[in-house]
Amino acid sequence: MTISLLAGTPIPAWANDWGMGDSNSKIPPSSIFNPVSTPAHEIDTVAFFVISITAVIFLIVAGLLAYSVIRFRTRPGDDGREPPQVYGSNPIEFAWTTVPVIIVFVLILVTARTIYVVQAAPRPPGALSVHVIAHQWWWEFRYPDLGIVTANELHVPLSDPHSPTPTFLDLESVDVAHSFWVPRLAGKTDVIPNKRNSMWIDPQVAGTYLGQCGEYCGTEHAMMLLRVIVEPRPDFDRWATAQKQPPVVDASASHGRAVFESTSCVNCHTISGTRADGRFGPDLTHLMARETIGAGVAMNTPAHLKVWVNDPSVMKPGALMPAMNLDDKDLDDLVTYLATLR
Ligand code: CUA
Repeated sequence: MTISLLAGTPIPAWANDWGMGDSNSKIPPSSIFNPVSTPAHEIDTVAFFVISITAVIFLIVAGLLAYSVIRFRTRPGDDGREPPQVYGSNPIEFAWTTVPVIIVFVLILVTARTIYVVQAAPRPPGALSVHVIAHQWWWEFRYPDLGIVTANELHVPLSDPHSPTPTFLDLESVDVAHSFWVPRLAGKTDVIPNKRNSMWIDPQVAGTYLGQCGEYCGTEHAMMLLRVIVEPRPDFDRWATAQKQPPVVDASASHGRAVFESTSCVNCHTISGTRADGRFGPDLTHLMARETIGAGVAMNTPAHLKVWVNDPSVMKPGALMPAMNLDDKDLDDLVTYLATLR
């Protein structure tokens, strides 16, 4: 389908998931009931507790209702008069006031305790810091201590429960309100312009975790996806070292680089070692180290990059990156250059 699209046949976006279905099907589904990080464990526990209490209340109320409907139904030979009506029973009124108050009070205490455990956790000296910046419709991740800038795929080290190495996130938005949510790692945190929120995760199982923007933020809210890649420390360190390298200069891609540097790409994107230092779009210095493009709309392959660069709205209608309107040769060479950015 990608081939026919490149040849100019319009294919509706819904007819092609750009390889994402295959990729996502290998990742366990996101669920708050399958936590792998302390804040998510706390939320799982409180959610289970609240659901249990409310389920018991539901069963009692629905059971009494069903019993009354059956036991006191109209029968042949009834005289049609109402049964005796009881008014003003102090014991009954006392019971149905105090029992719910006690239940609500318990729920408040348990919830407050959970919020406190998550919010007041001290930041250990070895914690990794990541600055999360939400954009319409993608995520920027900056590692201030490591000098790394990347997008949409957050790499963090595995945390050993016996000597935790959590990651602390500071979150801000450059435009509208968003919400950062990776259900298996932590609760949602609003990402708001001119206000820095914070949260933390300490993932205890290596793997890839799917997340998404959790607050409606415009046309492509549903496609503001993210991945958190949790790796054992040596793998994380290898990734970080590679991210800090300048991009490989590949002479065979020099024309593509010239195309990149002579178009408006440079106003929005950064590639270190070039004159491109824009901040409006994702940093492309190590573009090919990422599995996906467009904040999780497509697998990151040269064929998909070509579709994206030619006209992002084919994959992501409303995306703020304009169609580049390059001729075929320039487009091919530009994609060849982008594919060297490892
Ligand atoms: Cu960003 Cu919804």
